[in-house]
Amino acid sequence: MSFLGKCYYPICRPRGGNALVRRLVWGLRRLGGGREFRMAFDALDLDHDAVVGLMRLWPRIHWSSGDGMMPPEQLLTVYRLAVEWPVPGDVVELGAWVGLTTSYLATACAVRGAGRVYAVDTFEGTHENGDRYASVAKFGGSTLPEFQRRIRRAGVEDRVEALVGYTQDMAGAYPGGPIRLLLIDADHSYAGVRRDFELWSPLVAPGGLIVFHDYLMDDVARFVDGEVRADSGIEFAPGHVVSNVVAVTRKPLR
Ligand SMILES: C[S@@+](CC[C@H](N)C(=O)[O-])C[C@H]1O[C@@H](n2cnc3c(N)ncnc32)[C@H](O)[C@@H]1O
Repeated sequence: MSFLGKCYYPICRPRGGNALVRRLVWGLRRLGGGREFRMAFDALDLDHDAVVGLMRLWPRIHWSSGDGMMPPEQLLTVYRLAVEWPVPGDVVELGAWVGLTTSYLATACAVRGAGRVYAVDTFEGTHENGDRYASVAKFGGSTLPEFQRRIRRAGVEDRVEALVGYTQDMAGAYPGGPIRLLLIDADHSYAGVRRDFELWSPLVAPGGLIVFHDYLMDDVARFVDGEVRADSGIEFAPGHVVSNVVAVTRKPLR
């Protein structure tokens, strides 16, 4: 993607460049291009400034890095929501790991010219999924230095603040403004998702989004389909935006 990003950026920057690149990528996909081309192709459907934001980001990071937790389709969907959702405010990511999704969210803030991403994490991983987080050891026991390095490399450090600690402890000390997009992606146990929703959703601006990642995990689905759907303060829209991601809206106060 680095290579694609380098090539696209100068072409896409002028308005109208997207159409040209879209045709090119469509052709490459027909020749058998994989996920990289699919993501590039889908991205080109975005608004011009949002495409330019991605083209600036891609040469700096590797979107499909084995250390990222969101596959391309999901990343792009979350990016699209973060760019397009028409409510002002900041973004909060609960569970940031090494900052791949954070860099997309921060790029969305840069494209909008407003807001910051508050990335809340212990940066120590969790053991809820057994070995899945064992690789925290390869980062020397903390993913924070790697997170900071990647955010710098993505060129979005002015849009990102790491809040180091447990999500359940940080809600009371949240230093940002009303939240326009809350991404819940930390502790995926039923009790963990529920606690994060209960503590953080009151900080979401009326009309703001609450996005649940890992809906395909049983506990997340059970909580979302049971309690979130029944919550009178929540509108279940836009809903299932892509496999594994559900987004709901905090109803405006009456
Ligand atoms: C699935 S990863 C996050 C992936 C990231 N959103 C991405 O898309 O790349 C989950 C992260 O949540 C963090 N985490 C889990 N439970 C937590 C808690 N209670 N408080 C703070 N961080 C937590 C872990 O350290 C881990 O980095």
